Amino acid sequence: MSKILVTGGAGFIGSNLVDELVRLKHKVAVVDDLSTGKIEYLNPKAKFYQANICDEKKIAEIFRIEKPQYVFHLAAQMDIRKSVDDPIFDSEVNIGGGLNILKNCWKNKVKKIIFPSTAGIYGETKKPVSEEAPKFFEAPYALHKYAFEKHLEIFSKIYKIDFAVLRFANVYGPRQYKGGEGAVVGIFTYNAVRGLPCKIFGDGRQTRDFIFVDDVVKACLKAAFSANTGVYNISTGKIINLFALIKSIEKVNNKKIIYRKLPRRPGEIRNNSLNPKRANRILKWKALVSLEEGIKKTIGWVKSQKG
Ligand SMILES: NC(=O)c1ccc[n+]([C@@H]2O[C@H](COP(=O)([O-])OP(=O)(O)OC[C@H]3O[C@@H](n4cnc5c(N)ncnc54)[C@H](O)[C@@H]3O)[C@@H](O)[C@H]2O)c1
Repeated sequence: MSKILVTGGAGFIGSNLVDELVRLKHKVAVVDDLSTGKIEYLNPKAKFYQANICDEKKIAEIFRIEKPQYVFHLAAQMDIRKSVDDPIFDSEVNIGGGLNILKNCWKNKVKKIIFPSTAGIYGETKKPVSEEAPKFFEAPYALHKYAFEKHLEIFSKIYKIDFAVLRFANVYGPRQYKGGEGAVVGIFTYNAVRGLPCKIFGDGRQTRDFIFVDDVVKACLKAAFSANTGVYNISTGKIINLFALIKSIEKVNNKKIIYRKLPRRPGEIRNNSLNPKRANRILKWKALVSLEEGIKKTIGWVKSQKG
């Protein structure tokens, strides 16, 4: 059993991670400002601090009380369009807030910090790319995520703190916030179940590498509790376009989806997929949930929700 702090633990991925950590009998504390997360997603066995990761005094106090051994730093401003409209706010949360968490990690001798970065740092990709592929930034969100990766590299050397960066592909599953990064599956499954039209920005042939949240949670655990540090792509390595995604949802939901095509939006990447071989080999982790199985679980959850 370890003492663990999860920032963003009331959010989509964070709350699924907290459930698994609690199930494994770890002692879990959550920091979340509930800006997109929901109190009802919080596991009742986790201790909850409603706080902003940028609040220096409050975060220092939480670390003093909790003395975590591991920190999963998932709290983020993760709306890509918002990062284009308000890049200062994005950098305040995603770099400044991250540094506030990191500073408390080294001051409190945390063993390891796990940080989710994004597939967005590779920009357009023709095929699934490895971790060394060149980086191209089409939105401040991706640039700031990458900047924080680099801060982790710098300070892990200075303060001898272990870290793992997990560059997530497009994550989907129960509790996904519909305004966040790559929320297309969340939005389409929600609209499909309620018979609402779906908007396609661009020609619909844009591709993504969709990964189910349970696989991502397992990757977080492997990265934290193994001796391995460094940077890993967390993905399926499979390329799916929006029309194929729509077909899968229609098949599971047994109903046609009505969609409207709209112009492509600034800051959005057309094709993006990641090669997960390093994580397969070093972390001994592999994405196991098929798109159809993941969509079944997501639609099951959407149907169970009111509103
Ligand atoms: N969903 C994806 O496809 C995806 C892909 C790549 C990376 N990521 C990363 O994974 C992490 C989790 O994303 P998610 O999809 O669960 O998003 P989410 O919005 O559901 O979760 C983020 C959580 O952070 C909290 N938060 C935001 N700003 C905060 C602040 N200043 N202080 C405290 N809490 C704050 C929110 O309330 C929310 O609960 C993020 O770091 C995101 O950048 C997600």
